Amino acid sequence: MKILVTGGAGFIGGNFIHYMLKEHDDHDILCVDKLTYAGNMETLAPVMDDPRFKFIKADIADRDSIFKIFESEKPHIVVNFAAESHVDRSIEDPGIFLKTNILGTQVMMDACRQYGIMRYHQVSTDEVYGDLPLDRPDLFFTENTPIHASSPYSASKASADLLVQAYYRTFDLPVTISRCSNNYGPYHFPEKLIPLMIANALNDKPLPVYGKGENVRDWLYVEDHCRAIDLIIHKGRVGEVYNIGGHNEMANIDIVKMICKELGKPESLITYVTDRKGHDMRYAIDPTKIHNELGWLPETKFADGIKKTIQWYLDNRAWWENIINGEYQYYYKRMYEGR
Ligand code: NAD
Ligand code: DAU
Repeated sequence: MKILVTGGAGFIGGNFIHYMLKEHDDHDILCVDKLTYAGNMETLAPVMDDPRFKFIKADIADRDSIFKIFESEKPHIVVNFAAESHVDRSIEDPGIFLKTNILGTQVMMDACRQYGIMRYHQVSTDEVYGDLPLDRPDLFFTENTPIHASSPYSASKASADLLVQAYYRTFDLPVTISRCSNNYGPYHFPEKLIPLMIANALNDKPLPVYGKGENVRDWLYVEDHCRAIDLIIHKGRVGEVYNIGGHNEMANIDIVKMICKELGKPESLITYVTDRKGHDMRYAIDPTKIHNELGWLPETKFADGIKKTIQWYLDNRAWWENIINGEYQYYYKRMYEGR
């Protein structure tokens, strides 16, 4: 069984590759990644010598390259993680989000149609549902919640989901879609809330909280997400959407305070900055379907997962210091200076 994983040099794709090689002796993994600013070969270093693993640098939106890869590699399953993933960058410059997230998805599915596939899995996000109000804790996103995206990022992911469903209906492509809540864990790029706060706190730099820090996200340890995708590609029903989430809602400010406490840093580092444009208030997943159909439940409690994550950033300083000392500095300046 050969699985083509796109975006495997990124946060979740990288964790998924580590997970699959550990869990399945009989699977070969082919990673296709463009190596954008978010792609990092250091994330794949632990598996580079594994004979069951192969890496090819390519853009999923480049039809010729992708078709050549399918012709020579003949994958059985495709898991499409590759995407521009950061909401703030999509507000700054939406174009590349449309190209990679929508047209890239189309190219991947066209290749699957041309060369045949057992399963095409689209890694989507809870952000396609828009947001929920803070004063309605009884509301959750189910798979039947209408799509209602807020940012150029979530609109591009929602568009891709519609395209995947259209390829299922029109061409009988054997697809599945998963929509997951916020992940955290090792190899998370430091532009995102949790690793940014850990890195800044370790460097005694201000901790920039958007708005009042009241926005709520539903945090899931990345390995739990990987296990859910593994179950969906092997046992999930074709044509279906599966929500993945941890029933672990937390306000941003509480996460940041927890990180300060774990690292023994003062809360005086917290700095409230201008809010994100169109900032979604609350995400909350109802994971009943994947629980009932596939027996999936999150295994890592947030209190344990955040400790493990912080320890990983302490043990792997070179991984994130190489990033924040590179072109990331220009991004950080643009995004935060004078904010
Ligand atoms: P990431 O930004 O860390 O990694 C993205 C990877 O995709 C990088 O390795 C990058 O080089 C690669 N890539 C980007 N454009 C590409 C292209 N055109 N061709 C080939 N490779 C390309 O992202 P992530 O946080 O690991 O997210 C992975 C997927 O999971 C995305 O589809 C995202 O929408 C989805 N998702 C993320 C979260 C989260 O909390 N991070 C939650 C739910 C869903
Ligand atoms: O819900 C799933 C989504 O989670 C994924 O689809 C996205 O790819 C992923 O980036 C993530 O999106 P968010 O916008 O929720 O994640 P981010 O880490 O950027 O922000 C989390 C919250 O923290 C959000 O409310 C904004 C806030 N925030 C973020 C940063 C980077 C801050 O307050 N300060 C910051 O510096």
